[in-house]
This record gives sequence, structure tokens and C-alpha cells, in this order.
Amino acid sequence: MITDVLIVGSGIAGLSYALKLAERAPNLKITIITKLDESEANTKYAQGGIAAVTNLKNDSFEKHINDTLKAGDGLCDKQVVEHVVKNAPKRVSELAKWGVCFDKKNKSQYDLGKEGGHSENRIIHHKDLTGLQVQNSLLERIHEAPNINIFTHFFAIDLITEHHLGKNLAYGDKDISCYGLFALNIHSEKIVKILAKVTLLATGGAGQVYKYTTNPAIATADGIAMAYRAKATINNMEFIQFHPTALYNLGENPAFLISEAVRGKGAVLRTKKGNLFMQKYDKRESLATRDIVARSIDRELKTSGDNFVFLDCSSISDFETHFPNIYKKCLSIGINVPEQWIPVVPATHYLCGGIQTDISGKTNINNLYACGECACTGLHGANRLASNSLLEALIFSHNCAEDTFKIIDKLTIPNNIPDWDSKGVVKTQEQILIQHNIQEIRSVMTDYVGIIRSDFRLKRALNHIKIIYEETEMLYQNNALSLSLCQLRNLSTAAYIIVQQSLLRTENKGTFFNLNL
Ligand code: FAD
Ligand code: SIN
Repeated sequence: MITDVLIVGSGIAGLSYALKLAERAPNLKITIITKLDESEANTKYAQGGIAAVTNLKNDSFEKHINDTLKAGDGLCDKQVVEHVVKNAPKRVSELAKWGVCFDKKNKSQYDLGKEGGHSENRIIHHKDLTGLQVQNSLLERIHEAPNINIFTHFFAIDLITEHHLGKNLAYGDKDISCYGLFALNIHSEKIVKILAKVTLLATGGAGQVYKYTTNPAIATADGIAMAYRAKATINNMEFIQFHPTALYNLGENPAFLISEAVRGKGAVLRTKKGNLFMQKYDKRESLATRDIVARSIDRELKTSGDNFVFLDCSSISDFETHFPNIYKKCLSIGINVPEQWIPVVPATHYLCGGIQTDISGKTNINNLYACGECACTGLHGANRLASNSLLEALIFSHNCAEDTFKIIDKLTIPNNIPDWDSKGVVKTQEQILIQHNIQEIRSVMTDYVGIIRSDFRLKRALNHIKIIYEETEMLYQNNALSLSLCQLRNLSTAAYIIVQQSLLRTENKGTFFNLNL
């Protein structure tokens, strides 16, 4: 397969990049591959909304910039933050032009929600189903574009670089280029070589590295692991954001999210006994930033021995109107909100780090961009501000498209890239080992690399993960590839990088907390 542009991932980052390119260049051949159905992505599950300053009466760019910098705990790139915040209204109105329907107070004003760490109401949303609305509208536009082809159930395995032309590559090499990738057709089990002048990784996050996560099954850090193997720079992986309020419903994977917008409307956290506790930890109480709220809940649970805290929504009389999705889910398990309180616990939610890019979305590998949750752009620092993620994907997909237009006409693909070599491999007899290793990674990461870490726990995690990593590499060399084996390989790589980068951090910041520092 040969294409001009290859996009891995059909969430907000991949789809909006494709649309940007297609609108301006109808002759460009654009290919999207995605590992499951086209709509299955973190994007689809987003609830709260998109942060953007649209009401200049109360709000200002300055305030959104300061809130983002404060949440990031000193580690954001200020230039990137200013760029993102100032361009937010433009990018959000493009989204509306693509058909995304946001809730409005009246003809000209959005109904603006609030979330933790925001000093003003500035979250544009579609009830508590913002992501679904975005995902569906973007897919509709994609289907209308004649020069975009989308291949579902295609799993990107590894990027093609000079490594495949026999060159030994090392981290820090300056002249590595990407020419596409090898992908597994999940239905036919064949491996396809897809050559491209430009490749975008928009593969989303890494929530499935942990046992309790709000992220769907697709979030296995594939793009990050692939980029790492191709010698891209990966940063800030120690900053895993835990959402304070996932529904406590044992055994459910992914965990169902109770949006922070619920606290923005007035819900408060209480212990199992009914006592308010957030006033002990932060003057913003239940609306402090996520790192603080998640750590406070963790401390309360460790002290009390309880399994959950409650979210008391009794002050929100029109709960069902604002949060129909959450209302329905809670009712399905016997909780009638707002009369009854919702049991909640923190769960892994967002990866603040990832593949390092510059402000145009370029990685250190030529012709390779990264965008969305898999990228580390400098916006989030040590802790992402709520609802800045969909926004980041929009801003950077635009920037990636602008940069693509600058380079694509000059690019060529070498004609001597070999096909995938699967000689000597056999169909695996070790499915059980693959499943056990996936479960083990998720347990080790949850027990030792969670909200509160320590040197001892991190070293123990490193030893465990190393064994699984080495075992997986052996399986990978000798067995026919399957979705689960490839995902295990990526999960073990991502877990390894998270632990390694956690051990290197010497100061507690944002989402990262090590008892020994
Ligand atoms: P995704 O939307 O995750 O898309 C990744 C795509 O890559 C998927 O299509 C996947 O199948 C594909 N893919 C991955 N690996 C491969 C591979 N190897 N081969 C082929 N395809 C692959 N953020 C906000 O700003 N506001 C919110 O209100 C909000 N609410 C959230 C609620 C929940 C429950 C969750 C989980 C997240 C929420 N977030 C929110 C975060 C936000 O949704 C994500 O960060 C964002 O959607 C990421 O978009 P993306 O395009 O980068 O990745
Ligand atoms: C939420 O609705 O609480 C999630 C928002 C986000 O992750 O930014």
C-alpha cells in the first residue's frame, strides 16, 4: 500500500488532521488506519468538554493561561500554553462548523461548564456526551471526503525507518526518517507494508497499563512504544493523571467516569461516613486540580480503610437534564442521583507525557508527527488541566497539517524497503502466558506505580516489568503476531518507560508523588 499521508488512529487528533489536509488538498491521498471500529477511541468517552475562552465578560486568555500553568505545577512550556489558549476559540468554531453541536444558553452564548482548576466557567460541552458528539460529527465529515480512506481493524505494529534498510540506529541520531509502517490486518492476520511520505501517530493514551482506568481497551500505548522502538524521544511518562471520580463498580473495565463537571455544578466529596474532607487539603475543596483531589481521596481511603468515597450531588436538582449519561448509568446499577450519593474512587485517566514534539507537532524523526494524547507537547507539564486534552488535539492537528503542507511536495519514499519477514514463526501456543503477563503488568503498575510511589516500590516494579519485557520480546521473535501479543509488547514497553522515568524524577510535581523525595 502506498499513500501520501498515513494516519494511525481515528480519535479527535487523527480525524481532525485528516479533515484539515483533505479540505485544502483534494489530490492528496490520505489513509487512516485504526485498530478496532472507527469510532472506538478515548475521544468517544469524553464527558466534560473542551476548555476555551469564549465569554470575554468574565473570562480572559490570561486566566486560562494561568490556570493551565498552575495545574502543570511549573513544568508547562509557557509559549505552548499561550499558543494553545489563544488559538482555542478559532479551533473550537471550526469544530462547530464541522457539525459538532455544543449546548447553548441562548443564540450567541455557549452554556459554559466548570471543572477542577478552572477559575471561570469555560468548558464548552454537549451535555455529558461531548466526546460522542465530536467523534460522530468528525466521522461523518471523513466519510464525505473522497480522498480519505479509512481501514478499520488494522493494527500498526512498527514504524519503517532506515533500520529496515539495514542501518543501525541509536537514540539521539539526527537523520532518522519515517516512511510508513507495518500493520497487522486483524481479520486476515496478514502483515501489510504501508509506505507513506508523512506519518502521523494519533494513537491516544496508555490507561490500560493500569488495572483501574477510565480508558477503553484501545488505550495500550501503541504509538508511544512504536515511536520508542524507532528511537523517538519520549518524555514525562511519569506523569500519569488519576481522575478522582470513577464510579466504584467492581470488575468494570473501563471504569465509568463521573465527570468533574458534576463537581463544577456543585457536587461535593464526602467520606463513606458522610463527612466533607476536601477543606483539609485545598481551599478550592472539591474543585481543586485532579492531582490534589485524587491524592486527598487516596489518603482518606488509606486512613479509613474504606473502598470508596461518596460524591454528593443533592444540590443539583436538574441532574438528569445536565448529565443524562451519568444519570442513566447510575440508575442501571441502582443509584438514583441526585437523591442517592455516588460511590467513587480515583482511576488512571490520562497520560500527560508521550512522544516529544515541537510546536508544529514534529517529532525528532523526519516526516513523523505525533498529536493528541500520545504526544508530549509541553502544554500539560506535570498535570493536565481538565478539558485541555481535546483542545490540545485540535490545536496540534491544525499545526501538524500546516507543517505537512510545507514539506510533503519535497518528500520521496525509498524503493528498496523490504516486506515483512515472517519466516520461521509459528502460531502461538502461549495465549495463556500473554493474558497472564498483561494482567501482571496491570497489577504491578497499580500496586507500585500508582498515585503514591516510593523508591522501593518503583525498583520492585522495574524488576517485575523487566522480566515480562524480556519474556515478551522472546515470544515476539518466535510467534506469529496477534493483536494481544502486539499489545502486550507495547504495554510492557510503556510500563518500563513509566517506571524508568519515575525513578529518574528527583522532585514531586503535579501528578507525580514519591514518598522518598
Ligand atoms: P484517542 O481518541 O484515544 O484515539 C486513538 C486512536 O488510535 C483510536 O482510534 C485507536 O483505536 C487508535 N489506535 C491506537 N493504537 C493503534 C494501533 N496500534 N494501530 C491502529 N490504531 C491504533 N479530555 C477533554 O479534554 N475533555 C473531556 O471531557 C474528557 N473526558 C474524558 C473522559 C473519559 C472517560 C476519557 C477516557 C478521557 C477523557 N478526556 C477528556 C481525554 C480525551 O478524551 C483524550 O485525551 C482524547 O480524546 C485523545 O484523543 P486522541 O485522538 O489523541 O486519541
Ligand atoms: C471529565 O469530564 O471529568 C473529564 C474531563 C477531562 O478529562 O478533561
